[in-house]
Amino acid sequence: MKPTMRLALTAACLSTALLAGIVLATTFAGEGWSREERDTLATLRLSQLPPTPADPSNRVETMPLAVALGKRLFFDPRLSSNGKVSCASCHDPKQQFQDGKPVDQGVGTGIRRTMQVVAAGHSPFLFWDGRKDSLWAQAVGPLEDAAEHGGNRLAYARLMQQQYRRDYEAVFGALPDLQRLPAEASPVGTPTQQAAWHALDERSREDVSRVLANIGKAIAAYEKTLHFGESRLDQYIEGVLAKDRHAGELLTPAEKNGLRLFIGAARCVTCHNGPLLTDQHFHNTGIAPQGPVPQTLGRRTGVTKVVNDEFNCLGRFSDAAPEQCGELRFLATDGPTLDGAFKTPSLRNVAQRPPYMHAGQIATLTDVVRHYRAAAPANIGKSELEPIRLSEQDVQDIAAFLGTLSGPIVERGAPLPSAP
Ligand code: HEC
Ligand code: HEC
Repeated sequence: MKPTMRLALTAACLSTALLAGIVLATTFAGEGWSREERDTLATLRLSQLPPTPADPSNRVETMPLAVALGKRLFFDPRLSSNGKVSCASCHDPKQQFQDGKPVDQGVGTGIRRTMQVVAAGHSPFLFWDGRKDSLWAQAVGPLEDAAEHGGNRLAYARLMQQQYRRDYEAVFGALPDLQRLPAEASPVGTPTQQAAWHALDERSREDVSRVLANIGKAIAAYEKTLHFGESRLDQYIEGVLAKDRHAGELLTPAEKNGLRLFIGAARCVTCHNGPLLTDQHFHNTGIAPQGPVPQTLGRRTGVTKVVNDEFNCLGRFSDAAPEQCGELRFLATDGPTLDGAFKTPSLRNVAQRPPYMHAGQIATLTDVVRHYRAAAPANIGKSELEPIRLSEQDVQDIAAFLGTLSGPIVERGAPLPSAP
């Protein structure tokens, strides 16, 4: 062999070795994910979450004074019939803005599990059945619900006048004159409150209802400041995409297998997708219904209610022009998929808020995954799920993976008011 040739060969060997080394390093740093998997992973990162969409039906939602007022109202138990229940009684910041109970407990006992409220402004429809179309319209619901705050709108208007006058008027303008009105009245309250309501003239009814809507708008402004912080999964994916050699240390092999199944064979991402791990839609997943019949129909009942809600985007208390209410105007109000369908919840911080599903039907994440594996037929409507082939180890791994979605909850976007 000529010396030049030997040299060339050595150089070729060297470069092959070098290339192999680079390939090995990238595979290692890329954690063995295929290009397609990496593309899916990239969509789950919190950094991809767009800002919370503006709600044109609430003109005060970004006003710092409204945020401050809303925060005080959220934590104030005087907004209830017995003086003991605030939004925070069920949506406790120390418990993921939730209560850890299968069904809620307020002035009475409810029929559904308390939902967490962080990042709820990303959702076009609120509640498990989507019967409200904005955060503020949602907030007025529990205030007059007999099982929750159990209050009535005239009493709330009086509370604003007696305890919150200055702050309320700074945001919404003058409160109506309530002097000649009874102590209590509401179209959805006790028979006495309803009778008092119907005895009011139209103008007073509208004035009082507007105060209730405004309470909702202030609370919504506060809720919009609550966001999810980065989880271990976000750090892992960012690391993988940046080819950080230490990324692999952020998840255990079991969690990585769970993630692979979640975005692959187990098809969880069909519904739990995007940075919040939800498509914000309603699906029938064959969860055994609980509660009185109309409510178990889920989305079927929800669409009728939201269309008829006096506080919806098209209603007289909305600040939006009708053409800004696209979600409501183009809502599908019929079809078999509505029966027994409930909202896909976000899976961020999910490991920290058992029990699961719309009435707390499932106690642990492992049992949630077993439910998906079996895909039993639904009692109401038709389940969209199909059985999945998963070993017991796979089930455990997916449950372990769900634990990587935990992160802090942060309040930002508005100055913090002094203690409530
Ligand atoms: C007695 C407990 C209780 C109280 C008090 C309560 N909630 Fe809820 N909250 C629930 C339950 C239960 C649900 C789900 C109900 C359903 O879907 O039918 C819910 C759902 C919600 C949702 C929907 C989240 C989503 O993603 O759709 C928001 C937002 C919310 N509550 C905010 C509030 C606010 C604001 C207040 C105070 C005005 C409040 N809640 C008072 C129990 C409560
Ligand atoms: C067809 C859409 C769909 C698919 C596919 C799907 N989910 Fe869900 N998921 C939902 C809906 C809807 C709910 C709420 C159901 C209810 O309460 O009735 C839910 C609830 C959950 C909950 C409970 C969250 C809570 O706060 O209560 C977890 C955990 C969960 N899903 C994980 C998964 C995993 C893991 C997979 C894959 C094995 C998966 N999901 C596949 C739609 C889906």
